[in-house]
Amino acid sequence: MNYEQSVREQTEKLQAAGHATILAIESSCDETAAAIVRDGREVVSSVISSQIPLHAMYGGVVPEIASRKHVESVDPVVDECLKKADMTLADVDAIAVTYGPGLVGALLIGVSAAKALAYAAGKPLIPVNHIEGHVSANYIAHKDLEPPFVCLVASGGHSHIVRVDDYGVYTLLGQTMDDAAGEAFDKAARVLGLPYPGGPLLDKLSREGNLHALKLPHVQTPGRYDYSFSGLKTALINTVHKLRQNGQDVPAADIAASFQHAAVELLSDKAVLAAKESGAKIVTLAGGVASNSGLRNTMNDKCQKAGIRLMMPPPVLCTDNAAMIGSAAFYRLMRGEIAGLDLNATPSLRLV
Ligand SMILES: Nc1ncnc2c1ncn2[C@@H]1O[C@H](COP(=O)(O)OP(=O)(O)OP(=O)(O)O)[C@@H](O)[C@H]1O
Ligand SMILES: [Mg+2]
Repeated sequence: MNYEQSVREQTEKLQAAGHATILAIESSCDETAAAIVRDGREVVSSVISSQIPLHAMYGGVVPEIASRKHVESVDPVVDECLKKADMTLADVDAIAVTYGPGLVGALLIGVSAAKALAYAAGKPLIPVNHIEGHVSANYIAHKDLEPPFVCLVASGGHSHIVRVDDYGVYTLLGQTMDDAAGEAFDKAARVLGLPYPGGPLLDKLSREGNLHALKLPHVQTPGRYDYSFSGLKTALINTVHKLRQNGQDVPAADIAASFQHAAVELLSDKAVLAAKESGAKIVTLAGGVASNSGLRNTMNDKCQKAGIRLMMPPPVLCTDNAAMIGSAAFYRLMRGEIAGLDLNATPSLRLV
């Protein structure tokens, strides 16, 4: 029996059984990660190798350097993940991989590794959208979570409000018109002299500052649930430059706190409005910015007031990891969505 026939049969058996243990690989940006996830909800093992120190000296991710590092890391990360789970390739039912969106060179390393493993082990290959992975981190954190719900995806490259109608069925309610939330946090942090990626450091610094110290613009967008962060970012950059030009002190903590407050108000106002107006009973958070302390607290308060249940993954499942890819992959596998060995990276893959 050839590979295609064999994996089709295996997939049908797994669908009928409703169970699968999946080895997932993530390499879309600057983390090489592997995880083994059972039935979309239980993380058996997870390994994340971050490249942050490598890119910090350039102030951002250098795609070519990221690709080279993924080449070095992917095999050891997969080996470590299997070892931690006390498993071999023969013990997993399928191989999953992020095939977009992300950096093309970085994605290709994960896709090539996953294809090689799937073929060598004769297992089905499951293609996963990275943003669907971020949303699915919530299934791991909250075993009782089922669609429908609304999810605010705030990551390094995306700011979406999506309605999850069913597993794998998404309706885009709103999105950013310009910068992503994480990108805005990183750029604001950079102006304050914080190293890449500045989001988490700005979050930390803002705890020591006065969030009303700086008056930042309340951004208007044509779409009711759409975001815009570039005006906020420019206002902050101009403020800092003016202070420096006038030889005045830059109160970094106050500026960080004011920026975070403005960004969090914007993110949370629209997400809660979208949830209320679409009749959602549950709101979830996803993506790296979902680990922001201000966003988590504010969403908690606003959802409580609106009578909406808020669920969010722990910070380690908000930033890039492969466990979330393994979770999304399970539901894809159950729908029979497997890829052929001609799977390619799709850098600008959309969720909807
Ligand atoms: N506590 C925090 N506060 C604000 N931003 C944060 C925090 N922690 C992480 N971030 C931001 O989250 C982003 C990283 O998130 P993530 O890993 O989801 O992004 P990405 O994978 O680069 O982008 P995408 O998922 O859109 O492809 C960075 O911009 C980082 O600064
Ligand atoms: Mg991400």
